[in-house]
Order: sequence, then structure tokens, then C-alpha cells
Amino acid sequence: MKASLFECIECGADYSQWVGRCNLCGEWNSVQERVKEKFSGALAFKSAKAEALAEINLEQAQQSWQSGVKEFDRVLGAGIMPGSVGLLGGAPGVGKSTLILQLLSRFAKVGKQVLYVSGEETALQIKNRADRLNIEQQKIHLLTAFDLGEVEAVLANSQPDFIVIDSIQTLYSSQFTGVAGSVSQVKETAARLIQLAKLQSITIMLIGHITKEGQLAGPKVLEHMVDYVLYLETESQPNLRILRSVKNRFGSLAEVGLFKMTSHGLAEIKNPNQTFAKGFEERTGTAVYLAREGSRSLLVEVQALVGENSQTYPARTAVGLERNRLMLLLALIEKYLGLNLQGLDVYLNLAGGWKPEEPTVDMAVIAAVLSSYLNIAFKAPTVFFGEVALTGVFQQHSSWQDQIKEAARCGCLHAVVPVATKVNSGLKVHVAANIVALHECLLELKTLKI
Ligand code: TYD
Ligand code: MG
Repeated sequence: MKASLFECIECGADYSQWVGRCNLCGEWNSVQERVKEKFSGALAFKSAKAEALAEINLEQAQQSWQSGVKEFDRVLGAGIMPGSVGLLGGAPGVGKSTLILQLLSRFAKVGKQVLYVSGEETALQIKNRADRLNIEQQKIHLLTAFDLGEVEAVLANSQPDFIVIDSIQTLYSSQFTGVAGSVSQVKETAARLIQLAKLQSITIMLIGHITKEGQLAGPKVLEHMVDYVLYLETESQPNLRILRSVKNRFGSLAEVGLFKMTSHGLAEIKNPNQTFAKGFEERTGTAVYLAREGSRSLLVEVQALVGENSQTYPARTAVGLERNRLMLLLALIEKYLGLNLQGLDVYLNLAGGWKPEEPTVDMAVIAAVLSSYLNIAFKAPTVFFGEVALTGVFQQHSSWQDQIKEAARCGCLHAVVPVATKVNSGLKVHVAANIVALHECLLELKTLKI
């Protein structure tokens, strides 16, 4: 039996009757009738039976698939769960197809049957890329197709373990409304693929483009349909690629994977801080902070520029830090050090594209602003930790001892922290309990010679 339903082809909103304008996305004339299978009733599921939870045998559950690309595996916890459905998003040209081809070759190498479905590029282009990546190609099966029917036909004749659709926006089926890439096509073709993959116990990954606003082009519902959502991002360093998970049913969201785009594909960055101290230069307006990204720590250079204001209102610009936080820190500097920043422009940037969400970045921000304002540079790599309270007092962070050790491993020679403590790290620890003490400490550090 069939029941009529209406749906917005722009945003996928459902309606029981036709409306001229979609309430959800505000688009006019986007609501169209669609035909939906009605619930077929119990007759079709005569043999359906619920299982006792206690009787489910965990030993039979398969182990997750590790690709061996640690920067990828770590983001998902321990690789891809068999039978899972995932989504990899990213801006065009960021390296999604490159990453996936590298992963597919790893999985194929350990005996998995892999199928790469591409509607984005020709077989020749993909072959070219595979040659460039210098990967094992023997066991990767390739299908260049736009039509969902073609994918279904291949799946009817073969039983791959892992299938990747590059991209879900290029797939089309005449069964559904809208053009390829429209919300209804993306949603329905994905739903059909997921259904097929579940029926045949195939692990599946969909690749999706993101729009200028940073959203996956397609309905949000796509994110709800999958087990994990990964984003491949590029930030201020041109070759750096960061893989983040924004949804993960099997693990935490805290881990990131770091890659560098090279002429032979994506290379893992295993020790991101290794070259930091080597590249250290004395520069005014900079202070270093050690940000935590999952189980790792990354050195972030906080850069500040305090200069004469040429406009009516002084500029307050922050990249990587909330503007309001910057305003608050500037107010604290003015209050406790008696400085007048009102007539000065302040620009702040967290280099490397990191966005530390921990408030312990405060001390490094204040140090960078003071370094620019006072026109002083530190003579050696110095790391700062401490969240500031409205009283101008810095507060200790529970895990900072580990962070100091990590900073020492990365080549930092000084650390400024809120509370005195002994750390066997070979790095000199200075104490700044409040903003006034930090100011004094900075003046001392600038004259330090190593
Ligand atoms: P691609 O994987 O096609 O991106 P996406 O699938 O996300 O659109 O990567 C495209 C970019 O990566 C392109 O600008 C070329 C560059 N690239 C390299 O620098 N080195 C390589 O080895 C490869 C394959 C691509
Ligand atoms: Mg691509």
C-alpha cells in the first residue's frame, strides 16, 4: 500500500500536505509530492524474533579494522568498525579522495575486498592518482558511476567488505526527486545504500563535500544516519591536513589525525612538535602555549600585534580565540597593570590554525600582548600555562605537569605556571601567581640568556 507524503527537495522536511513555502528552510515551491512505501505489516515479518541481550556473543563480534595509518585509526578510536556506516566530509580539493585511496590500498593489502565508487573522476584520473600515490592497486576494485542502479547491480553480483562512495553528491537515482546533489537525492540515495550495506554486511563510507559555510552539502539528517562523521580540514598552514571526528558512536571525539599533503599523497605527522624548538626565533609579540588535542599536545604560537589605532574605534581582532575572551583579557591587563590600551589596536592570532578550547591559554595570550606592547622578545622557547580569574589571579590546571614535561620534550627551556612545583623535566619553571607577577616575570625572561 502506498501513502502520499510531501517533501521539501531543498532541506528534506516532510509534510503531510502540500505547502507553497517550506517552513524549515523558507524556500518557495520546493515542496513536492513523493511516494512512500507504507508500513507493510506483521505478515511480512513472520519469523521476526527478539534476542536476549545476555545471549549475544561478544566473541563473535569482529575486531575493528586498523588501516595501519595511525593518524586515521586514532581518530576513530581503533580503526573502522566492520559493518559501520561513515561519512567523510571536507572542502573540495582538501584531499578526501587521496586519503581514501591510500586507506583502501591498506585494507586491500590485508585481504579485504574493497570497492571504490567514484562519480567525481574518470577511471583514468583515479589511475593517475593511484600511480602518484605509489600504492598497491591490485585488489582495489573501481566503479565509475553516477547512477545508484549501477552500484546496486555491482553489489548484487559481488560481495565487497568495504565500499566507498566518492561522493554522495554525485550519486543519482531516478526513483527520487531532485537533481544529483540535491538534498532529497543525497538523503534518499544514502539511505538506500546504507540499507543495502546493512543487508549484505558491508562496511561503507560516504564522502561528502562541504559548503562554504562549513556544512556538509546535504541534509543534516545524513549525519544522523551514519555511525561516525569525519572532517578533513586545512587551516592556516597550507599543507597541513587535520582529520577530526564530529560524531563517533564507537569512540571519543577528542582525537585528531595530522597529515601533510606531499607530492605522493598524505603523509602522517607523528611528532608535530618535533621541529618547533629548532625553528625558534626571538620575536616580539609571541608566546607559546601547549594545547591538548585528544591524547596529544601541540605547541601553539600565540601572536599579538598591539599598535597605534588609526580608526575611530580601536581594532580588537582574534583568530583562534573568542573575541570576547580577548576583550576580557585586555580589560584585566588594563586593570591590574594600569596600562591604557584604549587607543591601541590589538590583533591576535593562534598560529597553525589551532583553536585551543582550554582556558589555560589565557596566560600565553596575556604574555603575547605584553610582549608586543612592551616590545620585548624571549631569548629562549618559553611556554605559558594558566587560566586567569577576574581577580587577575592565575589558576592551576590539573594536567599541567604532563604538559610541562611534553613542552620540555619539544625543546622548550622555560615554563611559566601559576603555582610553584618541582618537575623533573630539565626545563626551568617560573611562577607567576597573577598578572602583576607575570609582567615582572616577562621582564626577567627577556634578559635571560641561555
Ligand atoms: P583530492 O584528494 O582530489 O581532494 P578532494 O577529493 O578532497 O577534492 O586532492 C586534491 C588536491 O591534492 C589537489 O590540489 C592536488 C593535491 N595532491 C597533492 O598535492 N599530492 C598528491 O599526491 C595528490 C594525489 C594530490
Ligand atoms: Mg575527490
